[in-house]
Amino acid sequence: MTDAHADDEGAAWATDVRAALLAWYDLSARDLPWRRTRDPYAVWVSEVMLQQTRVDTVIPYYERFMARFPTPERLAAAPEDDVLGMWSGLGYYRRARMLHRGAREVVARYGGEVPREPEDRRALPGVGRYTAGAIGSIAFDRPEPLVDGNVARVLARLRAIDTPLGRGDTERALWADAAALVRGERPGALNQALMELGALVCTKTAPRCDRCPVASRCEALRLGRGGELPVPRARRPPRRVELVAVRLGRPGEVWLTRGEGALFGGLWGLPTVERGPGERPVDAAARALGDHGGVALDPAPCGTIEHALTHCRLRVTAFSASAASAASPPAGDRRARFVRLDALAEVGVSALTQKLLALTAARPGPTAAGEAPRRHGGSRTPAGER
Ligand code: ADE
Repeated sequence: MTDAHADDEGAAWATDVRAALLAWYDLSARDLPWRRTRDPYAVWVSEVMLQQTRVDTVIPYYERFMARFPTPERLAAAPEDDVLGMWSGLGYYRRARMLHRGAREVVARYGGEVPREPEDRRALPGVGRYTAGAIGSIAFDRPEPLVDGNVARVLARLRAIDTPLGRGDTERALWADAAALVRGERPGALNQALMELGALVCTKTAPRCDRCPVASRCEALRLGRGGELPVPRARRPPRRVELVAVRLGRPGEVWLTRGEGALFGGLWGLPTVERGPGERPVDAAARALGDHGGVALDPAPCGTIEHALTHCRLRVTAFSASAASAASPPAGDRRARFVRLDALAEVGVSALTQKLLALTAARPGPTAAGEAPRRHGGSRTPAGER
């Protein structure tokens, strides 16, 4: 086959698939809140939330977030705590911090208007090729491609791409096919049609090929290889991390510290440490409390929670402790404070923290009349591993 012939065939394939996808999308698209707007900021917020998160989960978060921060100016002006508070429970909090920084940059550099040029969008914090393409095609009607997990699956099957996802050659092939398809009318609808097909029809485990608008153009279906494509990326097994967390309570309040580092940076949570090799959980719990004065730590753990993140599996053993009412953080320390239990919703806490708070709620710390507490810093601990 000559190059010119191959080009013609490729163009004919793209024209055909594009037309079928758009016709199907017009009939089948779900009515989702972010599809009722072309506001680039709203599209940006929705696309960031939709990364790694299911549509059903995102909808209420998106609506609350947009009601609270309806413009880049309003988001830029908000303290990070408020932004993380609105994100609380959605996970992957780095996304929220980067979106916040991105909004500040849009205000500082572009007068509050999300830039139209793809290179300017790509230079914003947290905006990669995918998000830039989503904003460009959906809000600005530009023929910018995008590839997310759903689109990768659809394209890998349509084109029978049988190299592993995540590998350079696979990614180049996927983005080239996405670019060929989006080069035409209604690029935003076309990109969303690909995503929608992946979400509703060309699903991971049980694709509904009998309902697929592009089944006649699907190479994997023709070859009977739909079930084996796409070839998943090679993943390392997740790292296991043993943590110990302490609920330090006083009546109506819980002591929270602000996390640092990549995992839960900026979020408020129970004082938590990684358990050292051979360290007893109860000793790690005492360490988590640091030099907090006047604290009684219950030496019996409340229980354990397993929590999976992208690259690691956390196993968290929870303890409870009670504080004398006088206990308080050093003046000016903004990384720790007592938070009223009825005000927790306003503070950015992770889903893990919510689980730990629920687990420890029944035993919010030993009291003077309760079982023998461990005076923090003291040595009265039962024998054996806790
Ligand atoms: N997933 C990512 N972006 C989406 C969108 N715009 N609509 C539905 N699901 C999506």
